[in-house]
Amino acid sequence: MDSIIVGLQWGDEGKGKIVQKLSRNHDWIVRFSGGPNAGHTVYHNGVKKIHHLLPSGTDRNFLFISRGTLVDLKVLNDEIDEMSKIYPEIKERIYISPWCRVITSIDKQLDLFLEKIKGSKSVGTTRRGIGPTVSNDANRIGVRIFDLFNPNTASEKIETLASLAGMMIGKIDLMKETDNIFKEFDKIKDNVKDPYVMGSVLFEGTQGIMLDPMYGTYPYVTSTPTLPSAAFYGSGITSGGFEVWGIFKAYTTRVGAGPFPTELLDEDGNDLRKRGDEFGSTTGRPRRCGWLDLPLLKYACRVSSVNHLVITKADVLNGMKKIGVCTSYDHDFLPYDLGKINTKIEYMRGWKDLESSEFADFISIISKILEIKIEYVSSGPMEEDLKKNQ
Ligand code: IMP
Ligand code: MG
Repeated sequence: MDSIIVGLQWGDEGKGKIVQKLSRNHDWIVRFSGGPNAGHTVYHNGVKKIHHLLPSGTDRNFLFISRGTLVDLKVLNDEIDEMSKIYPEIKERIYISPWCRVITSIDKQLDLFLEKIKGSKSVGTTRRGIGPTVSNDANRIGVRIFDLFNPNTASEKIETLASLAGMMIGKIDLMKETDNIFKEFDKIKDNVKDPYVMGSVLFEGTQGIMLDPMYGTYPYVTSTPTLPSAAFYGSGITSGGFEVWGIFKAYTTRVGAGPFPTELLDEDGNDLRKRGDEFGSTTGRPRRCGWLDLPLLKYACRVSSVNHLVITKADVLNGMKKIGVCTSYDHDFLPYDLGKINTKIEYMRGWKDLESSEFADFISIISKILEIKIEYVSSGPMEEDLKKNQ
């Protein structure tokens, strides 16, 4: 049985270690969406690593960056270098689809430029060039990795990008841009191939359902799809049988702008940020924090047909006097007016630790509203911190 892992909130749910845990049952770990905007924290042999582009597998999995993923070649090479220190043969297990879209530094500059133009309406992107790269692709002027096998074609494409972007961001040093791309491409050329995928697959989702460009809190979203249904389209692998794992945090966070119904702008919010060390793993920005939002989770579970749930970072709330949970909104949940919604927050007694009966009550409220079983409770950054929920 294949598995698809997705985040059910606004990203940063702690998907990395769940991927690592489930990777033991799978041969392939496949990224099908997102790009270097992602930051999945995983411990390998006790060493902390943040995966931006490489799937978060272990010492034995085949790692496939499939065509739905946006690739920044430098970020990828740096990550491979880092990971080679832990698994010296890792490069032999990495496959990169030639169809992946390439992020250029022009796209990163455009990302910054668009954010500035938007002023108070800026999205708060990770500035990794995600939006511009996707829009190049929609405009059919984007660079794909296969273009780089033919330096003339690639240079022409980069020149087109530069001349269009130049109208907004000024003159671009074309020579430098092209040289940088080819220098990085040379290092991973041999890994650029679409593999014949045999055996069982774990699809590693990025960001979260609420950041999906079609199903999330548009326009405060990312630009590639985050739903499980994107796994097959993004990878070109159609699974014969699969289950969907939805990962959520015991409270809610969001980095960047956009509606956030249960956000805490007071001391409780600061407390959550401190306790949970809620600072972006890609950008280091402080994350906005708030109570668990069950109507939002219910929506995310519905659009992604989740079979199994994993709750993470519940231990962060250990020792808090009271814990809030949003159990309903003041009217039917519709994502397009999420910003105007009033929440009904119910407070419950906090727990000492995850063995406490108060925590069991918290879990049972969640399962009752979501009508899906919580399979694992994660209480730390390591794979070993995942416990089966009885
Ligand atoms: P972009 O994906 O860089 O264009 O950013 C768009 C929005 O998605 C911003 O609010 C980002 O903070 C958010 N975002 C993108 N990737 C991640 C992620 O991996 N975790 C959390 N938020 C993300
Ligand atoms: Mg993250």
